[in-house]
Order: sequence, then structure tokens, then C-alpha cells
Amino acid sequence: MSTVFCCVLGVLFSVALCTDFEERPSSSRRSEQTMFLKSHKSRSLLSLEDLQEPDHVKMKRSEESAQNQCQSLHGYDSTLKNNTHTHNFNDLSGTVSLAWVGDYTGVLLVLTTFQVPLFIMRFGQSRLYRSEDYGKTFQDITDLINNTFIQTEFGIAIGPENSGKVILTGDLTEGRVTKIFRSVDFGKSFVTSELPFHPLMQIRYNPRDSNILVVYSINYDLWLSEDFGASWRKIHERVCLMKWGIDDAIFLTTNPNGSCSDRGTLELRKSLDYGKTFKTIGSRIYSFGLGGRFVFASIMTDLGSTRMIHVSVDQGETWDMAQLPTVGHEQFYSILAANNDMIFMHVDEPGDSGIGTIYVSDDRGIVFSKSLERHLYTTTGGDTDFTNITSLRGVYMTSVLTVDGSVQTVITFNQGGEWQTLQKPWNGECDSTTVHPDKCSLYIHASYSISIKLNVPMQPLSEPNAVGLILAHGSVGGAVSVLSPDVYVSDDGGYTWFQALKGPHHYAILDSGGLLVAVEHNPSHPISQIKFSTDEGQCWHVHNFTDDPMYFTGLASEPGARSMNISLWGYRETFLNQNWVSVTVDFRQLLSRDCQENDYIQWLAHSSDINDPTDGCILGYKERFLRLRKDSVCWNGRDYIVTKEPTICPCTLTDFQCDFGFYHAENSSVCVEQPDLIGHSLEFCLHGRKEQLQTSGYRKIPGDHCEGGITPERKEIDLSKKCVSNLPRTELLTEEHSFHSAPIIAVVIAVLLISAVAGVIFIKKYVCGGRFLVHRYSVLKQHAEANGIYGVEDLDTLEGDKTHYHHDSDEDLLE
Ligand SMILES: *[C@@H]1O[C@H](CO)[C@@H](O)[C@H](O)[C@H]1NC(C)=O
Ligand SMILES: *[C@@H]1O[C@H](CO)[C@@H](O)[C@H](O)[C@H]1NC(C)=O
Ligand SMILES: *[C@@H]1O[C@H](CO)[C@@H](O)[C@H](O)[C@H]1NC(C)=O
Ligand SMILES: *[C@@H]1O[C@H](CO)[C@@H](O)[C@H](O)[C@H]1NC(C)=O
Ligand SMILES: *[C@@H]1O[C@H](CO)[C@@H](O)[C@H](O)[C@H]1NC(C)=O
Ligand SMILES: *[C@@H]1O[C@H](CO)[C@@H](O)[C@H](O)[C@H]1NC(C)=O
Ligand SMILES: *[C@@H]1O[C@H](CO)[C@@H](O)[C@H](O)[C@H]1NC(C)=O
Repeated sequence: MSTVFCCVLGVLFSVALCTDFEERPSSSRRSEQTMFLKSHKSRSLLSLEDLQEPDHVKMKRSEESAQNQCQSLHGYDSTLKNNTHTHNFNDLSGTVSLAWVGDYTGVLLVLTTFQVPLFIMRFGQSRLYRSEDYGKTFQDITDLINNTFIQTEFGIAIGPENSGKVILTGDLTEGRVTKIFRSVDFGKSFVTSELPFHPLMQIRYNPRDSNILVVYSINYDLWLSEDFGASWRKIHERVCLMKWGIDDAIFLTTNPNGSCSDRGTLELRKSLDYGKTFKTIGSRIYSFGLGGRFVFASIMTDLGSTRMIHVSVDQGETWDMAQLPTVGHEQFYSILAANNDMIFMHVDEPGDSGIGTIYVSDDRGIVFSKSLERHLYTTTGGDTDFTNITSLRGVYMTSVLTVDGSVQTVITFNQGGEWQTLQKPWNGECDSTTVHPDKCSLYIHASYSISIKLNVPMQPLSEPNAVGLILAHGSVGGAVSVLSPDVYVSDDGGYTWFQALKGPHHYAILDSGGLLVAVEHNPSHPISQIKFSTDEGQCWHVHNFTDDPMYFTGLASEPGARSMNISLWGYRETFLNQNWVSVTVDFRQLLSRDCQENDYIQWLAHSSDINDPTDGCILGYKERFLRLRKDSVCWNGRDYIVTKEPTICPCTLTDFQCDFGFYHAENSSVCVEQPDLIGHSLEFCLHGRKEQLQTSGYRKIPGDHCEGGITPERKEIDLSKKCVSNLPRTELLTEEHSFHSAPIIAVVIAVLLISAVAGVIFIKKYVCGGRFLVHRYSVLKQHAEANGIYGVEDLDTLEGDKTHYHHDSDEDLLE
């Protein structure tokens, strides 16, 4: 009974509801997971000389720390006991939603809701609580909103930046009008206003201006407010999908004559004046998506049953056809990750195979190179394991379905250039399912495992300010183990791994990686212990945070991983009741010493062979970081900034991708010319001008910083002839269009053939990703990432509502 109830008691982190526009990836991450065991390793202490001597910099992070003795910390128990704060909510509600308001303000809003469906009517009750001290104490502020019932699905809409804005949406069924409650002071006070329509979903902020709000109504009209919700105007009817672009642009699709479910007949429109005027920038649209500075649209081809991707780098003014395969009705495109420089695009295979191919783009979003085949992306769950490892540049992780039907984790360290399986953990054993007991690799559990209901409470976790650190659930074996996954940690960005805790856990990164905490995931048993580690997960200590165990539902710490306060959310069963409890532990007294210079050690990222001068070079430069020594027990502090020292590398062939008409010879970085194109001049249409390409076959990877070394020749000659490269405009979608596009189609096909043969190596620019552009994964992906396991279902349902209406397979996928 308690198990069932626990699942109902979802800790729903509704901050995630606004992560669509989150500008800093770090703050969109929520860390609430369970965790478990501690492992003991014993080694000798690291000597001080190691720190100064540059040679030792090259030491592998884990090896270095492997020299550490797992020393027991003494006397922490009474310190932590003094700093453990329990808040009992006299509240039986089924759902709790948490939202952090502002950056580093310590303000936490908690909405509990309780709903019983009674015939057609719903009976519901909600309560609102507010904390100003990172969750240690709460005030019931339900009366501030006149005890109105707030819908969980609409959640708590937190404004972007540090605006302190909050919007709560009242229940629709409660009277004729929908009321919203707005706060501009971090939830201290609220004002009400009435909406002249009924909203379909949560109100969305313009990510660049928190006074500007938009929302669809239940009639699919789009409403906009320029005064933070006080007054509203209808800016468009029959809207299928709306997204904010760069520079306050509004992009939307609409079907003037038909319904949104007539995919492939939609019009793409754009407004630069908050909906006063709209300009149609494309027709025959199936779906569209924004990623980085790119706008993508999948557009029906003349055949009518297939579609292809067109891309614009000037916010929809001019379009080029992307060199990606066309897809049919049952297939989809999905933007896995995008920043200002490049995107990772998944193209589904025909048939219900659950796999596809990942392509990486060039800086124009036009030329795509094949990066990974047999990429697992199931349509049913809409789930992919694709993860940007934000703690190290160029590292991404995902899963492939091997030819023999097993699922395998692969990782790339050079932004999709090459992929490899994960090394076996240095302290892990291959399990019994392995064919060759000494030849097994680590499998990381992410969305896919969660969607097939394995016992995985959290996604992999990494934070930009916790350099090199990854926490994830994994199994070691030949096939995905259905046994209980354990927690594995990598401290060098995924090159090496070790088992940190046995069994599934919720985990969180605090103090920029200086402190890790974990709580065992065991929904059917009350718990009373939290585990923590000050050495990146090698030694774990246990703190009994209560004498009265509770059913644990999730961890909550302020986004950004700089906090020292962690809250455990759960409930206690008494005779008749199950009341919510939050326990907040402040670790500040434990790590009371501020870190000094000699607490840090130099570390060269991506280093594998110290004798190689190109050791650590990724995209033309290497970076040395100052990282906290594992045996240092001290506080990085809130203002900790990652210290890194980049060095430019000389160019090698790996800093180039193969140009149009060229492909990588097998097992080598040499580019060879496609046989059918030898002797032909390469012409293509770019932004409406015909260009001729003279190339020795190499093109520098955009964003690659290498200097000197190899410099292959390359020239693009403007032939001063006009051409049309498939603008998705109505007026251009004529016979003429297909005629003009013939040359480029030839090139496209050639390139596709080539990549099919060759598995072209391609990497991309990493630096200077614009703030707005980071991290526009598919919506579902973001939610999954930003929410713990409990949140996922609730959010997916919400997302599902929207998707339902839009009948849109691509909408979430081609985000
Ligand atoms: C805990 O707090 C009590 C009273 O506030 C104090 O007497 C005691 O010294 C504290 N213990 C520690 C370890 O800080
Ligand atoms: C609550 O109700 C009172 C009286 O009806 C009204 O004056 C006040 O503005 C309301 N407050 C909010 C936040 O709706
Ligand atoms: C909508 O209908 C009108 C007239 O019925 C027609 O002229 C127009 O081309 C149609 N638009 C689309 C996008 O089908
Ligand atoms: C991956 O994450 C890093 C760090 O947050 C970010 O800078 C980078 O742009 C992301 N990559 C992509 C392709 O989105
Ligand atoms: C913590 O609790 C466990 C069992 O619940 C007990 O064995 C252990 O002694 C406790 N530790 C401390 C320091 O109280
Ligand atoms: C922990 O919470 C307290 C308030 O209770 C706050 O003053 C302190 O700054 C927080 N510590 C960190 C590192 O966030
Ligand atoms: C390429 O490398 C793979 C494995 O490293 C090997 O099996 C294959 O024979 C090599 N191909 C060529 C043409 O050298």
C-alpha cells in the first residue's frame, strides 16, 4: 500500500516547466535523486610536490585519488545534527511541486495539491508554502492567494533571469473566468488578474523579458501580455505551435484553412513586434524547431509523402536545404542538442526499428556528417539516452542498439567525431551475463532504462562547475543488466569510471563538486540516512538525519550546484495520516574551512598520453584546470569559478572535416575524393548564389582553434549567378523550384552516399555558445533531465496534453 502511495506522491519539480527557456543549463538542472552505499578504498596520501610539478598534472584523476586513504571523518555527526532542520507539513496532499525562485536567493515555493474526481466535477484543494532559507523553515501562504485552488499541471511559472516573477494559475472549473496570481517580489505578495480566455497550458515568459507573456487558449488562440499579465490581447488564431526566437521574435505555425493535424500543410509565421504584424516565412511546413542560432523546418517535398529539413541562420529570412535524408510519414527528425555553432540531429530509420542516425552539422547548418549509426531512440517513449556531459567540453553520451540486439552505451570526447564504448570500471567486476568475463564495458542507465521501468531513480548528472565529474547509474556486463543498477562515478569526464555506491540512489552535487550527497532509493522502506562524500565519490560517510525514518521521495537543492543545503522530501505514516516532511541538512559547518590555493591541483583535460604533444587537444586547444584535491575537506564557496588555462594546439588532420564530395578513407583521417565526382567541378547553391568549390578535400571544423601545422587549401568562388536553394516560400514552391534545386540535390545524394560508405568524422566548435542557445533539447528530454524520476511522469502527462492537441510527433522531436 505504501509503495503505491509513494508513487502517487510525486515530488514534482515544476521549475522544469519553464526550462524551455532556461538560459543557463546549470540552473535548469534539478538534483533530486536517491543514492546508496559507500565503497572503501585505501591508498597513501598524495605528496605536495605532485601539485607543483607539472609532470604530475598528467596523472589520471582517479589514479591520483586512488592513492588516498579512505579516512574517517570524526565528530561530524553532532555537527550535522545541529544543522539538520526538519519541517513537518500538516498536509495530506498527493502531490508536491517545488520551485526555486531567483538565483541564490534561497527562496523556495512549494505547492501541494489534492484532487478527487467527483463525477464530472473535480474537488480539489491546494496549499502554498514559502521558504526563504533554502527549505529549512516554511510559511503557509495559501491565504495570500485567497485559498484559490491552483492546478498542479499549470504549476508554478518562474520568470527567467533573476526577475523574481512568479505566476500561479487558478482552477478553470472554479467559476467562469480563470484567475492568475502574479508576484514580482519572489512570492512575497501576489496580485490577481482575470484572463479573458481559458489557458491550455502554463503561461510562458519571453526568455529575454519577463514582462512579456504568451499562452495558448483552449481554442488554440495565442494571447500575449506586455505588462506581466495585467492585460492581454489575442495575437493569432488557430495556432499549432509557438516558440520564442532570438531577439524577441515569435515563430508559430498555423493552418489557415484546416486543422493542425493536417501536417505538411502548415504555414510558418514570424512576428518581430509582439504579434502586431506577422510575416509568412514558409509554407507546406510539417514542423519546425529552433536550436542555437538555427531555425529548422521540415517541409513536404514535391512528392507529397516525404519531407526534408530546411535551415535558416538569419531567423527565417532565407533558407537552405540541409543535406539530410528525407523522411517519410512514420519517421521523424529530432534535434538532440544545439548551440550557436552546431547541432546534433537524429534522423529516424524507416520502419519501427527504434533506431536512427545522428548527424552533426557544420557552422551553416547545411552540411551534415554522419556521426553515429544505430542510435537508440524509441518512438514509443520518445526516449533517447543522448546526454550532453556539461562537466567537460566535447563530451556526449548515448546508447546504440547493436546488431545482435543488445543496448550499449557509447561516448564521444570530440563532439561526435568518434564514439566508443565505456571502459569497465576499475573497481567493478563483469557480471555473469558477460560472454568474455574480462571483456565487458559499462552500461549507463538513462531515459531508455527509465522508460522500460528499470529501477533507475535518476538520470546521469553533471554540472559545468564540477569539472570532469559525472554521476550515473550503471551496470557492468554484456547486456543491459536487469539487476539493480549501481551508482558509478567518473572524475575525468567519462574516460574512467568506478563504482561508488551499491544499488540505486538519488544523488546531488553540492559546492561545485566539493561535496556529493546520496540517499538510497527504496520506495517501500522508510529511511533515516543520508550519505555524503568529500572526495568525488570514493569514500562515503553516513549521517542519521532522523530518529523517525520517513518514506523518501526525492532530493532538492538549489540549481547551479553551489549550495551547501540539501533537502530530503518524503512523508511519514502515522496512524491515519501520511504527512509531508522535508529535512534540510546544512553542510556548511562540516566544511567550515575555506579552500586555499594548495587545496587545488592542476589537471589537464582529455589527457591520455603525456608524451604526445597533442595530448589533451580537442578542437584545436587543450585546457588545464585547477581542481580541488580529493583529500581536501574544505569549502569552494558560492563564488567559486572554474580556473582554466587554454593552450592552442597545432593543426592536424583531425582538425578538419572532409569537404563536399570527399570522404574519410577507412581507418584514416585522410579525405579522398568521391569517385563519381572526380573531374567535375563542384557547384552548389548557397543563400541564393551559385558557388564553385575548389578544395583539396578538407574544411576546418568551425570553432576549431588550432594554429599552424597542416593547412590544406580551400576556396569558394562566387560564380555570380543566381540560383534558388529550395526556399520554403509559397511563391517559390513551383516547378521552377525543383528545376533549380537539381544541382544541389545531386550533391546531397553524393554526400549522403559518401557518408553512408565512410562514417565521416566531424567535430565542431564548442566555445562562445550564446546564452540563449545552449541546451534546447527536445522538450521531453529537458523535462526528463530536469526532473527526478517522480517528476517525469507528471510532466510528461502535461506535455502530453499539449502534444495531444497538436497531434504532433515532430513537435517534441523536432524541437
Ligand atoms: C550544537 O548546538 C548546541 C546548542 O545550540 C551547542 O551547545 C553545541 O555545542 C552544538 N554542537 C556542535 C557540535 O556544534
Ligand atoms: C483576496 O480577496 C480580497 C477580498 O475579496 C481582495 O481584496 C484581494 O485582492 C484578494 N487577493 C488576491 C491576491 O486575490
Ligand atoms: C485557403 O483557402 C483559400 C480559399 O478557400 C485559398 O485561396 C488558399 O490558398 C487556402 N490556403 C491554404 C494554405 O491552403
Ligand atoms: C553542451 O553543454 C555545454 C555546457 O553547458 C554547452 O556549452 C554546449 O553548448 C552544449 N552543447 C550543445 C551542442 O548544446
Ligand atoms: C545510525 O542508524 C543506524 C541504524 O539505523 C545505527 O546502526 C547507527 O549506529 C546509527 N549511527 C549513529 C551515529 O547514530
Ligand atoms: C544554506 O542556507 C542558509 C540559510 O539557512 C544560507 O544562509 C546559506 O547561505 C546557505 N548556504 C549555501 C552555501 O547556500
Ligand atoms: C580498420 O580497423 C578495423 C579495426 O580497428 C579493422 O578490423 C579493419 O580491418 C581496418 N580496415 C582497414 C582497411 O585497415
